[in-house]
Amino acid sequence: MSRVDPHSYYDDSQPRTRRWQLELRVDFAKQVLDGRVTLELEQPSGGVLDLDSKGLTIHEVRTQNGAAVPFEMGEEAEILGRRLRLQLPAGTAAVSLKYTTAPDATALQWLSPAQTDGKRHPFLFSQCQAIHARTMVPCQDTPLVRVNYRAEVTIPETLAAVMSAGPAGVRPGPTPGTHTFLFEMPQPIPPYLLALAVGDLDSRDLSPRSRVWAEPGVVSAAAWEFAEIESMIVKAEGLFGPYEWERYDMLVLPPSFPYGGMENPRMTFLTPTLLAGDRSLVDVLAHELAHSWTGNLVTNATAEHFWLNEGATVWAERRIREALHGVDDAILGWTIGQNALDESMKRFGVDSPLTKLRTELTGVDPDDVFSTVPYEKGARFLTLVERTVGRAAFDRFMRDYMARYRFTSITTEEFIDFLDEKLPGTTAKVNAKRWLYEPGMPPDAPVFRSPALDALVQLGAAWGKGTRPTPEQIKSWNPSEMLVYLQNLPRELDAAACDWLDSKLALSGRGNYEILVEWLTIAAGSDYEPAFARIREVLMRVGRMKYLRPLYMALGKHERTRKLARDIFAAASPTYHSLSRRVVQGILDKYTA
Ligand code: BES
Ligand code: ZN
Repeated sequence: MSRVDPHSYYDDSQPRTRRWQLELRVDFAKQVLDGRVTLELEQPSGGVLDLDSKGLTIHEVRTQNGAAVPFEMGEEAEILGRRLRLQLPAGTAAVSLKYTTAPDATALQWLSPAQTDGKRHPFLFSQCQAIHARTMVPCQDTPLVRVNYRAEVTIPETLAAVMSAGPAGVRPGPTPGTHTFLFEMPQPIPPYLLALAVGDLDSRDLSPRSRVWAEPGVVSAAAWEFAEIESMIVKAEGLFGPYEWERYDMLVLPPSFPYGGMENPRMTFLTPTLLAGDRSLVDVLAHELAHSWTGNLVTNATAEHFWLNEGATVWAERRIREALHGVDDAILGWTIGQNALDESMKRFGVDSPLTKLRTELTGVDPDDVFSTVPYEKGARFLTLVERTVGRAAFDRFMRDYMARYRFTSITTEEFIDFLDEKLPGTTAKVNAKRWLYEPGMPPDAPVFRSPALDALVQLGAAWGKGTRPTPEQIKSWNPSEMLVYLQNLPRELDAAACDWLDSKLALSGRGNYEILVEWLTIAAGSDYEPAFARIREVLMRVGRMKYLRPLYMALGKHERTRKLARDIFAAASPTYHSLSRRVVQGILDKYTA
């Protein structure tokens, strides 16, 4: 017997699940899911079956024949939750577990009407990656065990449900005032890709295979912002092979969604902060779409191989961006990524084991060590291989890789073996071991530069010498260039400088959250009072961790802004997702006085 994923009680000598049948009732009053999951096994088996569970109350467990299955809940472990050990009678083909989730299930955020755009209906969404599926369903919660699923979800009549699955109809619910949405997910997925959202939802078709869902007041803006999606899918298919999931639909969530996007198959979840009004933030959409190949089709075996998901996806995202908007635009993406990578390396320290691509995470919560390292270091490693073997050979390799490992979950070592098989000698040439198993950035990391970009970086760096951009320069910048310029300014400026920036670059009124938050981070770190109201507005509304982190950190620099941060957090924290709340609490705990 052996456990093979440090974040799961899954034992690879036990029977594997191959399909889930979910029957869930969404109870907004109690903030729980109540119902049943039937786990179908790969083959009829008997004996011990260990499942992951966290916060779940298990009411009864039965086999397909209705025989009661003895079960035992282990001790609560801080990260893993509780092992749920079933004793299966011989010949068990499926077990059915009747259960209820906890109101504080970390996979779920229950929003009050006030937290929605429409202000009239509650909203529920899930976020299972990396190890939260076990707070929603008792299961083998490891990417090593892929399942397909069917679901029947009963919700209030006034609302609609979407899942990471194909819609399979709606029927009247078992009690008055409810209806039941049916879903079928035929492709096998790792449990972290289970997803559900319930709310007052409307949709717009963007292409024959793509549609965007959002609250009624948001859906038109979303349809405009993401209108490029079909051309992205076409480009991606050209690069990585056929799109295997039939439909590509998207859901724009309320602003408390803690990520920019989540690649839930057939239903990417997106933050509304992408709705800049000028399509300038669609790189996040390209990223989530790219996961349809890298991550969802070929999946990391465990969170220790997360770079396989995210590094390959960032590489793919930039290739899509290059194909659609040209090489200079892609270079801007690499540059912004480099700044984020430098920041993560500084936060961890370049000697930290957390800056290795292949990580060791026994006893470590994946949420606690989330950073851009697997993303940007991983993508640079792949680009180094691309530059070493040439683009044509590397593109062929990536297509072969997708085809070879489709619908499986693999380790770093399997990837490297495949690279050695297809492109012999390459891993030695690029010193793959250094990239994968050692911390920090290797000296031969690819650089992404252009003369225009160098000029922009220098202009920012010359701020202290009094150099300012001319109105013509400012007018000529696209949003990514504006962001790069801001990223190269000092982190602390005097009030006159802040006045100048805000008025000349019209920063506080920006719809592009990347630019807005970069500016507000400078303003916060500069103790610049005229921006406090806008900072408060953003922190009260938005729960995306990428924005909360730098803002709350910058507010920690001055006594007055520390007080502001604590005031805002006291008011906002009940509306934050539990992940976001934890991140911000951690930052505030490190404030001095
Ligand atoms: N899969 C991730 C989000 C995630 C990672 C959730 C780990 C939970 C645990 C998603 O694809 C992602 O990377 N989102 C980024 C987008 C960006 C890199 C373009 C985000 O949310 O900012
Ligand atoms: Zn990603």
